[in-house]
Amino acid sequence: MYDLFIRNANLPGGRKGVDIAVRQGRIAAVGAALQGQAAREIDATGRLVCPPFVDSHVHMDSTLSLGLPRLNASGTLLEGIALWGELKPHLTQEAIYERARKLCYWSAARGTLAIRSHVDVCDDRLLAVEALVQLKRDIAPWIDLQLVAFPQDGFYRYGKSEENLRKALKMGLDVVGGIPHFERTMEDGRLSVQALMRIAADEGRLVDMHCDETDDPLSRHIETLTAETRRHGMAGRVAGSHLTSMHSMDNYYVTKLIPLMAEAGIAAIANPLINITLQGRNDTYPKRRGMTRVKELMQAGVPVGFGHDCVMDPWYSLGSHDMLEVAGMGLHVGQLTGLKEIDACFGAVTEVPARIMALEGYGLEPGCRADLVILQAEDEMEAIRLRAERLYVIRRGAILAESAPREAVVRFGEETRHLDFTRKNLG
Ligand code: FE2
Repeated sequence: MYDLFIRNANLPGGRKGVDIAVRQGRIAAVGAALQGQAAREIDATGRLVCPPFVDSHVHMDSTLSLGLPRLNASGTLLEGIALWGELKPHLTQEAIYERARKLCYWSAARGTLAIRSHVDVCDDRLLAVEALVQLKRDIAPWIDLQLVAFPQDGFYRYGKSEENLRKALKMGLDVVGGIPHFERTMEDGRLSVQALMRIAADEGRLVDMHCDETDDPLSRHIETLTAETRRHGMAGRVAGSHLTSMHSMDNYYVTKLIPLMAEAGIAAIANPLINITLQGRNDTYPKRRGMTRVKELMQAGVPVGFGHDCVMDPWYSLGSHDMLEVAGMGLHVGQLTGLKEIDACFGAVTEVPARIMALEGYGLEPGCRADLVILQAEDEMEAIRLRAERLYVIRRGAILAESAPREAVVRFGEETRHLDFTRKNLG
């Protein structure tokens, strides 16, 4: 006897007609025409069923604060930083908690059940740390939160960063962050990467640094982060986030850098929505796109995840925490329109960031956690094209969120058409 049967699903990678049986919160069996009884059955004929979406880069301490204390009139990074500075003294633990919790409802509805959030530790009150550690505990039955100790004002540039970061790790943050390009000098940036990697190695922590989030073609902190990853033997445990300077780097230099990244086992996390809107702002034309070299990194075997980064905050007024929107933007900005590349964009918001975050039991194999999303789409391409409705979001075998299938009705005189924009509609 099973708790749940999902019948006749399409799986990522092209398998069709697959049944998934769930027992006690885990996937018990995956195969064609599985026999047995279940307390509940869902017919997923022609629907893509995938493990949950993963947002490997977001800032939950600033999320949903749009309009506080005012809107970002210019829409630029610099005004965003100024706005965050204005907001910080007025933050309360309760308000941060409530906004971040609201985002979790949105995330659940969108099928995003694992989130890595950076948390600013350059506020000596550590309110955001307290709030998000509490949320991580409270929300654990439904969403896996992984929290990064992020010295947002600079590890050296802000005097108490190291003390606060160490304290925050003790309070329950998981991952060591950094922001080398924001230090006062290139040299301070390099030293900050080395110091933070030493802390992470000593404490056995994963690492995720905002790295080279500039248009400066000479920013080289990813090189240092890569070298330190290798030196500490931390393959598979370190990610460089943003890496937008790679967009502008000298092409010859990048042909040296990317193989070094692959060799070191470092991962890259791009944030397409934010990179395309915030980078290249000082350019006239041609105007740089700013997103890192996703295609080339993927071709070299470097794991690439996509993050949302911001949702309705000082830096980005838009978004609804939809990782399919992120995948779609990454696909367009990176010209990732090859068939395998489209699937890779889907992977960049599902299984790749799950690996980067070292999530336990993620996937569609027997024994994995029964965390699943049933989409109103037949495959990855259609899911991205339509930002497909998440018909069922399942957590540990139970339905966590559901949405009605999307349908529009068009009437041309006597002729009535019901449209869901899927390929089926073309028949
Ligand atoms: Fe970020």
